[in-house]
Amino acid sequence: MIDGGRPLQGVVTISGAKNSAIALIPAAILAESEVILDNLPILSDVAVYSEILEELGASVSWSGSQMRIDPSRILSIPMPNGPVKKLRASYYMMGALLGRFKEATIGLPGGCNFEPRPIDQHIKGFEALGATVTNEHGSIHLYAKELRGAKIYLDVSSVGATINIMLAASRAKGSTIIENAAKEPEIIDVATLLNSMGAVIKGAGTETIRIEGVTEMHGCRHSIIPDRIQAGTYMIAAAATRGDVVIDNVIPKHLEALTAKLLEMGVGIEELDESIRVIGKARYGHVDVKALIYPGFPTDLQSPMTSLLTQAEGVSVLSDFVYSSRFKHVPELVRMGAKIRVEGRSAIIEGNKLNAAKVKATDLRAGAALVIAGLTVEDGITEVTGVEYIDRGYDNLVINLRQLGAEVWRENE
Ligand code: EPU
Repeated sequence: MIDGGRPLQGVVTISGAKNSAIALIPAAILAESEVILDNLPILSDVAVYSEILEELGASVSWSGSQMRIDPSRILSIPMPNGPVKKLRASYYMMGALLGRFKEATIGLPGGCNFEPRPIDQHIKGFEALGATVTNEHGSIHLYAKELRGAKIYLDVSSVGATINIMLAASRAKGSTIIENAAKEPEIIDVATLLNSMGAVIKGAGTETIRIEGVTEMHGCRHSIIPDRIQAGTYMIAAAATRGDVVIDNVIPKHLEALTAKLLEMGVGIEELDESIRVIGKARYGHVDVKALIYPGFPTDLQSPMTSLLTQAEGVSVLSDFVYSSRFKHVPELVRMGAKIRVEGRSAIIEGNKLNAAKVKATDLRAGAALVIAGLTVEDGITEVTGVEYIDRGYDNLVINLRQLGAEVWRENE
């Protein structure tokens, strides 16, 4: 429930990155001793992942932002159903278990279904490393007598496929080269953890990643990078409410594409080493935004940005070149009075004031977009349902927004 119309003001501290965390937790499977992860976000997806690891026999203890994973007693138990179905990122179990045990059975992933999300590039990578991959009644079964390094060219620079291949190839025989690899900061974070565990990975963050397989990996301690999407969401919320917010514990470089667009609209931005201050203004100009792979504008901020662009003067065009139809938030924003039409992979947004309505989050970032829209509404209470999606990716959203002066609370339906 959001009683909007109040400018956000104050400081918000960003937690560790969700999309790193849900790759780093399964990566721990590759170690033979305890892995300690710090700066972990407190999210339902993280809880599901710890459940998955416990089912496999790992000992997991999670307290606050720290998780200790002892994978020494893990077995590659088939997991066709159960918690793997709740997460899209359960596909990382394939790379991790294949790497350590050369065998895995994992139910096809669930998660946010905003459009078909194939995993053909993951499978192509596993097969190139020597695995046989079959689909058995909706579960993927992977088996390799031996994993051998290979040269793999990705048809699309997929984050998931790049990480999954790094996981499996870390324990393959010989060298693997991934060409056209994804360059997202989360890839570097995973490579950093794997290297601390004894892997030999070079080039993460560029389009060519080289991995020398090793026979054994060990535990280590690793601190997760800040969540650039969570940070970007608060930056957008601060601008949309014409507030003044310092977003702390961020890597400003990771947010350059967003910062550039906010500046172009007329939002005030001050960057420090580990924080960004966003100073809202009374009027914003329209801009065109193209969501692309990193370092382009992130697709995960495309929906929140749609809400902000309803507050700009004139017509903005926002296109998503990563996902062609990630626009389920648009009909909900239209219920709030937004003037938006979708044409192909673009949303055409004409700025105007929004009104309160009852709206439904259909995925994580669509949920964030609706909350931001609600924060801009001057009269009336916006009711957002489907908040379980928001819990998957935003650590303490309601508490943080309340600390920034918003009137936001949760009610059971
Ligand atoms: N793709 C393929 N084949 C594949 C894999 C991907 O065609 O085998 C296509 C996808 O359909 C998409 C593009 O490649 O058009 C990029 O997909 P990618 O594989 O990079 O996405 P992902 O790894 O499944 C991660 C994040 C997403 C984020 C995307 C893009 C995780 C768990 N998820 O997904 O995050 O949108 O990268 O940056 O890391 C979110 O946080 O809300 C979220 C959906």
